[in-house]
Amino acid sequence: MKAHVTAHKDYTVSRIDDRLYGAFLEHLGRAVYTGIYEPGHPTADENGFRGDVLELVRALNVPVVRYPGGNFVSAYNWEDGIGPREDRPVRLDLAWHTSETNEVGIHEFADWCRAAGTEMMLAVNLGSRGLDAARNFLEYCNHPGGSYWSDLRARNGRREPWDVKLWCLGNEMDGPWQVGHKDAHEYGKLAAETAKAMRAFDKSLELVVCGSSHSDMPTYPEWERVVLEHTYEVVDHVSLHMYFRNPEKNTANFLALNHKLDRYIETVASTINFVKAKKRSKRNVYISFDEWNVWYHSNKQDRAILDGGNGWPLAPGLLEDIYNFEDVLQVGCILNTFIRRSDVVKIGCIAQLVNVIAPIMTERSGPAWRQTIYYPYYFASIHGRGTALNLLVDCPGYDSEHDDNVPYVDVSGVHNEEEGTLTFFLVNRCGLEAIDVEVSLKGFAGGTVIDHQVMTHTDLEAVNTAADQQNVRPRSGSGARVADGVLAASLPAYSYQMIRVK
Ligand code: AHR
Repeated sequence: MKAHVTAHKDYTVSRIDDRLYGAFLEHLGRAVYTGIYEPGHPTADENGFRGDVLELVRALNVPVVRYPGGNFVSAYNWEDGIGPREDRPVRLDLAWHTSETNEVGIHEFADWCRAAGTEMMLAVNLGSRGLDAARNFLEYCNHPGGSYWSDLRARNGRREPWDVKLWCLGNEMDGPWQVGHKDAHEYGKLAAETAKAMRAFDKSLELVVCGSSHSDMPTYPEWERVVLEHTYEVVDHVSLHMYFRNPEKNTANFLALNHKLDRYIETVASTINFVKAKKRSKRNVYISFDEWNVWYHSNKQDRAILDGGNGWPLAPGLLEDIYNFEDVLQVGCILNTFIRRSDVVKIGCIAQLVNVIAPIMTERSGPAWRQTIYYPYYFASIHGRGTALNLLVDCPGYDSEHDDNVPYVDVSGVHNEEEGTLTFFLVNRCGLEAIDVEVSLKGFAGGTVIDHQVMTHTDLEAVNTAADQQNVRPRSGSGARVADGVLAASLPAYSYQMIRVK
């Protein structure tokens, strides 16, 4: 099979916001406890943060981490996580039916972010609480001093404000499973008033309002219209979430799901434009895709805990999906979609970062290791920064459950003007044959292939483990070359590739 792609230097989508490659860390399962934080672990620092995990996170150059939830945030008292550790209460977490010791709170998370070289994206609780708790939390985090909450922060050991700019107004408030779930009008009004109060403190904050939890929600996309009609003038982003599943083991349908993702983005972008027009507004609102990943492998084993059958355990192994090679292809396609829609999607958070549906896993008292999906996320975060190109793709396709004519090659291209590099991320969705791809490079001066990484495997179900982290990993590719302004490469059946030209 053959595919032809045209990349033109002046035919661009958008400058990519670096925050497209963010991540999410929730007080859930072992994400925090025995994930990022495990005092006594051989690699732990003086704050109890695992050095092996920090090393893997730093390598990803994660721009922003959303915290503390997730469903967890909707019944969370942020004040439980401040002050002397021995005085912090143990609470029952209603979202995940576990016990929360509050050993890690905002101070510890801020210290961890600093050590990881990333920024905080904080969520306020608009489920069991509201405007008052949100404005106090904001003052605690961001006011320099001389007020009740900022002086308390100083007494708790942190004089300088953290100056967190990015705030989420609750989490998945359209979901009946959410503590304090509301209808679109109730939530829209609360989010608008909370946003106004937060902006009264600091006009320069970037605020994220809840959109739909996924595009199969019965309230989608009416939810977005109603919520935005209440909040349009005081928010900057609409939060969207999507998880990808393949319980039927239908690879063709699974790997076409990013087309459903693309429609979701397009529909919400259109709804944003509709409300903008209705409001006669000059303001632009974007999309924060702040939860996305494959999530289904662990569903069965989680049932007992989620049903409450295991009592209220401390940091149980929840949502510990073990990712396979097929998921590498899926994550590659998802990231390609975000790059192609970087005109409207400004923030993205892989959900999550450590142990819970995550690219990084840890063993209690043991090693930290890379799951299969670590790699496509790594390549996009490190080399997917710059300007997204609007590629013209000519390639045979197939019909899937949700979409017809899904091209066998899924591709995105990024021009990094500062480095003078062109990076292509390519997935071959076809399991039967290799595809010869030619990319015509228009308006770019020559160039040669400087990096070529390939991920293939004979078994779509192949996984990595703590004991074997080498089973699914990238290998240097060969055979990709540029001649007469054309990049030519062969994509093996079911493969992920990154090709960089300079
Ligand atoms: O990431 C796991 C959960 O998925 C989050 O807590 C929630 O927001 C979503 O439903």
